[in-house]
Amino acid sequence: MKIAVAGGTGTLGRHVVEIARERGHEVVVLSRASGVDLVAGTGLAAALAGVEVVVDVSNVSTLKAAESEVFFTTVTRNLLAAERDAGVGHHVALSIVGVDRAPYAYYAGKVAQERAVESGDVPWTILRATQFHEFAGQMLENLTVAGIHLAPRARTQPIAAHEVAQRLVELAEGAPAGRVADLAGPREEQLDDMVRRLVRARALRGPVIAVSLPGKQMAAMRRGEALPGRDAQLGRQTYEEWLGTQVAA
Ligand SMILES: NC(=O)c1ccc[n+]([C@@H]2O[C@H](COP(=O)([O-])OP(=O)(O)OC[C@H]3O[C@@H](n4cnc5c(N)ncnc54)[C@H](OP(=O)(O)O)[C@@H]3O)[C@@H](O)[C@H]2O)c1
Repeated sequence: MKIAVAGGTGTLGRHVVEIARERGHEVVVLSRASGVDLVAGTGLAAALAGVEVVVDVSNVSTLKAAESEVFFTTVTRNLLAAERDAGVGHHVALSIVGVDRAPYAYYAGKVAQERAVESGDVPWTILRATQFHEFAGQMLENLTVAGIHLAPRARTQPIAAHEVAQRLVELAEGAPAGRVADLAGPREEQLDDMVRRLVRARALRGPVIAVSLPGKQMAAMRRGEALPGRDAQLGRQTYEEWLGTQVAA
Protein backbone atom coordinates (compact mmCIF):
# COMPACT_ATOMS: atom_id res chain seq x y z
CA MET A 1 0.00 0.00 0.00
CA LYS A 2 1.25 3.52 -0.73
CA ILE A 3 0.81 5.68 2.39
CA ALA A 4 1.58 9.40 2.78
CA VAL A 5 2.44 10.60 6.29
CA ALA A 6 1.82 14.31 6.84
CA GLY A 7 4.23 15.35 9.60
CA GLY A 8 6.34 12.22 9.04
CA THR A 9 9.44 13.90 10.51
CA GLY A 10 7.80 14.75 13.87
CA THR A 11 7.89 13.07 17.30
CA LEU A 12 5.07 10.73 16.37
CA GLY A 13 5.42 10.85 12.58
CA ARG A 14 8.88 9.25 12.64
CA HIS A 15 7.39 6.18 14.35
CA VAL A 16 4.51 6.03 11.85
CA VAL A 17 6.95 6.12 8.90
CA GLU A 18 9.21 3.47 10.45
CA ILE A 19 6.38 1.08 11.34
CA ALA A 20 4.64 1.49 7.95
CA ARG A 21 7.93 0.71 6.16
CA GLU A 22 8.57 -2.30 8.43
CA ARG A 23 5.13 -3.58 7.44
CA GLY A 24 6.10 -3.39 3.77
CA HIS A 25 4.29 -0.22 2.74
CA GLU A 26 5.66 2.40 0.38
CA VAL A 27 5.80 5.63 2.40
CA VAL A 28 5.85 9.25 1.24
CA VAL A 29 6.68 11.91 3.86
CA LEU A 30 4.79 15.20 3.62
CA SER A 31 6.71 17.86 5.54
CA ARG A 32 8.61 21.04 4.77
CA ALA A 33 11.87 19.12 5.16
CA SER A 34 10.75 16.88 2.29
CA GLY A 35 9.58 19.79 0.09
CA VAL A 36 5.86 19.88 0.95
CA ASP A 37 4.32 22.85 2.74
CA LEU A 38 0.93 21.79 4.05
CA VAL A 39 -0.12 25.37 4.91
CA ALA A 40 0.80 26.83 1.51
CA GLY A 41 -0.24 23.60 -0.23
CA THR A 42 2.96 23.53 -2.29
CA GLY A 43 4.33 20.20 -3.49
CA LEU A 44 1.23 18.29 -2.40
CA ALA A 45 -0.20 17.31 -5.79
CA ALA A 46 3.04 15.67 -6.97
CA ALA A 47 3.64 13.97 -3.61
CA LEU A 48 0.19 12.33 -3.57
CA ALA A 49 0.46 10.60 -6.97
CA GLY A 50 -0.54 6.96 -6.49
CA VAL A 51 -1.15 7.36 -2.74
CA GLU A 52 -4.05 5.32 -1.27
CA VAL A 53 -4.13 6.61 2.32
CA VAL A 54 -2.98 9.80 4.04
CA VAL A 55 -2.15 9.71 7.76
CA ASP A 56 -2.09 13.26 9.14
CA VAL A 57 0.18 13.74 12.18
CA SER A 58 1.35 17.24 11.32
CA ASN A 59 1.45 19.78 14.12
CA VAL A 60 1.97 23.38 15.15
CA SER A 61 3.49 24.41 18.50
CA THR A 62 1.24 27.10 19.90
CA LEU A 63 -0.96 27.81 22.89
CA LYS A 64 -3.04 30.35 20.95
CA ALA A 65 -6.50 29.19 19.84
CA ALA A 66 -6.56 31.32 16.68
CA GLU A 67 -3.13 30.11 15.49
CA SER A 68 -4.03 26.51 16.17
CA GLU A 69 -7.39 26.80 14.37
CA VAL A 70 -5.82 28.44 11.33
CA PHE A 71 -3.08 25.80 11.09
CA PHE A 72 -5.25 22.71 11.49
CA THR A 73 -8.13 23.89 9.28
CA THR A 74 -5.80 25.12 6.52
CA VAL A 75 -3.72 21.95 6.53
CA THR A 76 -6.83 19.73 6.56
CA ARG A 77 -8.53 21.63 3.74
CA ASN A 78 -5.37 21.59 1.62
CA LEU A 79 -4.83 17.88 2.25
CA LEU A 80 -8.46 16.91 1.53
CA ALA A 81 -8.57 18.94 -1.71
CA ALA A 82 -5.32 17.39 -2.94
CA GLU A 83 -6.48 13.91 -1.85
CA ARG A 84 -9.73 14.32 -3.81
CA ASP A 85 -7.79 15.36 -6.94
CA ALA A 86 -5.35 12.45 -6.53
CA GLY A 87 -8.07 9.86 -5.85
CA VAL A 88 -6.89 9.09 -2.30
CA GLY A 89 -9.60 6.96 -0.66
CA HIS A 90 -8.87 7.32 3.06
CA HIS A 91 -7.81 10.16 5.37
CA VAL A 92 -6.63 9.16 8.87
CA ALA A 93 -6.29 11.97 11.43
CA LEU A 94 -4.94 11.96 14.97
CA SER A 95 -6.69 14.01 17.63
CA ILE A 96 -6.53 14.17 21.43
CA VAL A 97 -8.73 12.59 24.12
CA GLY A 98 -11.12 15.13 25.64
CA VAL A 99 -10.61 17.98 23.14
CA ASP A 100 -14.33 18.68 22.93
CA ARG A 101 -14.56 18.90 26.75
CA ALA A 102 -11.88 21.64 26.72
CA PRO A 103 -12.00 23.33 23.28
CA TYR A 104 -9.62 26.11 24.27
CA ALA A 105 -6.12 27.27 23.32
CA TYR A 106 -4.29 24.59 21.24
CA TYR A 107 -7.26 22.22 21.58
CA ALA A 108 -9.49 24.69 19.69
CA GLY A 109 -7.49 23.81 16.57
CA LYS A 110 -7.83 20.07 17.16
CA VAL A 111 -11.63 20.42 17.44
CA ALA A 112 -11.63 22.46 14.21
CA GLN A 113 -9.50 19.76 12.54
CA GLU A 114 -11.97 17.05 13.55
CA ARG A 115 -14.89 19.08 12.16
CA ALA A 116 -13.07 19.70 8.87
CA VAL A 117 -12.29 15.99 8.45
CA GLU A 118 -15.84 14.92 9.36
CA SER A 119 -17.45 17.37 6.95
CA GLY A 120 -14.98 16.71 4.14
CA ASP A 121 -15.66 14.40 1.21
CA VAL A 122 -12.74 11.99 1.65
CA PRO A 123 -13.71 8.88 3.66
CA TRP A 124 -12.05 9.21 7.07
CA THR A 125 -10.94 7.73 10.35
CA ILE A 126 -10.22 9.78 13.48
CA LEU A 127 -8.26 8.38 16.42
CA ARG A 128 -8.02 10.34 19.66
CA ALA A 129 -5.00 9.53 21.84
CA THR A 130 -3.84 10.83 25.21
CA GLN A 131 -0.56 12.70 25.76
CA PHE A 132 2.60 10.87 24.66
CA HIS A 133 5.31 9.96 27.18
CA GLU A 134 7.41 12.52 25.27
CA PHE A 135 4.98 15.23 26.45
CA ALA A 136 7.00 15.65 29.68
CA GLY A 137 10.09 16.44 27.58
CA GLN A 138 8.12 18.94 25.48
CA MET A 139 7.16 20.69 28.78
CA LEU A 140 10.83 20.76 29.83
CA GLU A 141 11.90 22.33 26.53
CA ASN A 142 9.27 25.07 26.74
CA LEU A 143 9.13 25.72 30.49
CA THR A 144 12.72 25.82 31.73
CA VAL A 145 13.35 29.40 32.80
CA ALA A 146 16.72 30.56 34.17
CA GLY A 147 17.62 26.98 35.12
CA ILE A 148 14.31 26.38 36.90
CA HIS A 149 12.09 23.62 35.49
CA LEU A 150 8.43 24.59 35.74
CA ALA A 151 6.28 21.46 35.89
CA PRO A 152 2.58 22.01 35.14
CA ARG A 153 0.02 20.28 37.32
CA ALA A 154 -2.29 18.14 35.19
CA ARG A 155 -3.86 14.68 35.19
CA THR A 156 -2.89 12.55 32.20
CA GLN A 157 -2.78 8.89 31.19
CA PRO A 158 0.22 9.00 28.86
CA ILE A 159 0.92 6.54 26.07
CA ALA A 160 4.03 5.50 24.16
CA ALA A 161 4.22 7.34 20.83
CA HIS A 162 5.23 4.10 19.08
CA GLU A 163 2.02 2.41 20.28
CA VAL A 164 -0.06 5.29 18.86
CA ALA A 165 1.89 4.95 15.61
CA GLN A 166 1.19 1.19 15.47
CA ARG A 167 -2.53 1.83 15.86
CA LEU A 168 -2.50 4.52 13.16
CA VAL A 169 -0.80 2.20 10.67
CA GLU A 170 -3.31 -0.54 11.52
CA LEU A 171 -6.16 1.94 10.90
CA ALA A 172 -4.56 3.07 7.62
CA GLU A 173 -4.47 -0.55 6.46
CA GLY A 174 -8.21 -0.95 7.14
CA ALA A 175 -11.31 0.68 5.70
CA PRO A 176 -12.39 4.20 6.76
CA ALA A 177 -14.00 3.75 10.19
CA GLY A 178 -15.12 7.21 11.39
CA ARG A 179 -14.37 7.96 15.07
CA VAL A 180 -12.74 4.89 16.57
CA ALA A 181 -12.20 4.02 20.26
CA ASP A 182 -9.86 6.36 22.12
CA LEU A 183 -6.32 5.16 22.86
CA ALA A 184 -4.65 5.82 26.22
CA GLY A 185 -1.70 4.62 28.25
CA PRO A 186 -1.98 1.93 30.93
CA ARG A 187 -2.12 4.20 34.01
CA GLU A 188 -2.79 7.72 35.18
CA GLU A 189 0.17 9.98 36.00
CA GLN A 190 0.58 13.53 37.30
CA LEU A 191 2.31 15.67 34.68
CA ASP A 192 4.44 17.59 37.23
CA ASP A 193 5.66 14.25 38.61
CA MET A 194 6.48 13.03 35.08
CA VAL A 195 8.63 16.14 34.54
CA ARG A 196 10.35 15.65 37.92
CA ARG A 197 11.20 12.02 37.09
CA LEU A 198 12.49 12.99 33.63
CA VAL A 199 14.76 15.66 35.11
CA ARG A 200 16.12 13.06 37.54
CA ALA A 201 16.56 10.42 34.80
CA ARG A 202 18.46 12.89 32.61
CA ALA A 203 20.50 14.06 35.65
CA LEU A 204 19.65 17.69 34.83
CA ARG A 205 20.55 20.49 37.23
CA GLY A 206 18.06 22.94 38.65
CA PRO A 207 14.97 22.71 40.81
CA VAL A 208 11.61 21.43 39.58
CA ILE A 209 8.70 23.62 40.67
CA ALA A 210 5.11 22.43 40.24
CA VAL A 211 2.90 25.19 38.84
CA SER A 212 -0.77 25.62 37.96
CA LEU A 213 -0.60 27.25 34.55
CA PRO A 214 -3.28 29.82 33.72
CA GLY A 215 -5.89 29.18 31.04
CA LYS A 216 -8.99 27.06 30.57
CA GLN A 217 -7.22 24.21 28.76
CA MET A 218 -4.76 23.52 31.60
CA ALA A 219 -7.53 23.98 34.21
CA ALA A 220 -9.54 21.31 32.36
CA MET A 221 -6.52 18.97 32.40
CA ARG A 222 -6.15 19.50 36.17
CA ARG A 223 -9.81 18.48 36.55
CA GLY A 224 -9.08 15.28 34.63
CA GLU A 225 -10.94 16.17 31.44
CA ALA A 226 -8.15 14.81 29.23
CA LEU A 227 -8.39 11.37 30.85
CA PRO A 228 -9.86 8.47 28.85
CA GLY A 229 -13.30 6.96 29.44
CA ARG A 230 -13.96 3.29 30.27
CA ASP A 231 -14.32 2.27 26.63
CA ALA A 232 -10.81 3.44 25.65
CA GLN A 233 -8.22 0.96 24.37
CA LEU A 234 -5.15 0.88 26.62
CA GLY A 235 -1.52 0.63 25.54
CA ARG A 236 1.07 -1.45 27.38
CA GLN A 237 4.22 0.59 28.05
CA THR A 238 4.12 2.62 31.28
CA TYR A 239 5.83 5.98 31.68
CA GLU A 240 8.33 4.34 34.06
CA GLU A 241 9.24 1.71 31.45
CA TRP A 242 9.58 4.38 28.76
CA LEU A 243 11.87 6.42 31.07
CA GLY A 244 14.05 3.32 31.41
CA THR A 245 14.45 3.12 27.63
CA GLN A 246 15.45 6.80 27.52
CA VAL A 247 18.18 6.37 30.10
CA ALA A 248 19.43 3.23 28.32
CA ALA A 249 19.53 5.17 25.01
N1 LIG B 1 2.33 15.51 21.82
C1 LIG B 1 1.33 14.83 22.37
O1 LIG B 1 1.38 14.46 23.56
C2 LIG B 1 0.10 14.47 21.53
C3 LIG B 1 -0.92 13.68 22.08
C4 LIG B 1 -2.01 13.28 21.28
C5 LIG B 1 -2.08 13.70 19.95
N2 LIG B 1 -1.08 14.51 19.46
C6 LIG B 1 -1.16 14.90 18.06
O2 LIG B 1 -0.13 14.23 17.36
C7 LIG B 1 0.22 14.96 16.20
C8 LIG B 1 1.72 15.01 16.05
O3 LIG B 1 2.30 15.66 17.16
P1 LIG B 1 3.89 15.69 17.37
O4 LIG B 1 4.13 16.16 18.76
O5 LIG B 1 4.46 14.39 16.90
O6 LIG B 1 4.29 16.84 16.33
P2 LIG B 1 5.75 17.49 16.09
O7 LIG B 1 6.82 16.68 16.70
O8 LIG B 1 5.62 18.94 16.44
O9 LIG B 1 5.91 17.36 14.49
C9 LIG B 1 5.21 18.20 13.63
C10 LIG B 1 5.33 17.69 12.21
O10 LIG B 1 4.53 18.54 11.36
C11 LIG B 1 5.33 18.98 10.26
N3 LIG B 1 4.89 20.31 9.86
C12 LIG B 1 4.69 21.41 10.63
N4 LIG B 1 4.31 22.46 9.87
C13 LIG B 1 4.27 22.01 8.58
C14 LIG B 1 3.97 22.62 7.33
N5 LIG B 1 3.62 23.91 7.22
N6 LIG B 1 4.05 21.86 6.22
C15 LIG B 1 4.43 20.56 6.28
N7 LIG B 1 4.70 19.92 7.43
C16 LIG B 1 4.65 20.64 8.58
C17 LIG B 1 6.77 18.98 10.80
O11 LIG B 1 7.71 18.81 9.76
P3 LIG B 1 8.61 20.01 9.13
O12 LIG B 1 9.07 20.85 10.29
O13 LIG B 1 9.67 19.30 8.38
O14 LIG B 1 7.68 20.75 8.24
C18 LIG B 1 6.76 17.72 11.66
O15 LIG B 1 6.96 16.57 10.86
C19 LIG B 1 -0.48 16.33 16.34
O16 LIG B 1 -1.62 16.35 15.52
C20 LIG B 1 -0.90 16.38 17.80
O17 LIG B 1 -2.07 17.14 18.02
C21 LIG B 1 -0.01 14.88 20.20
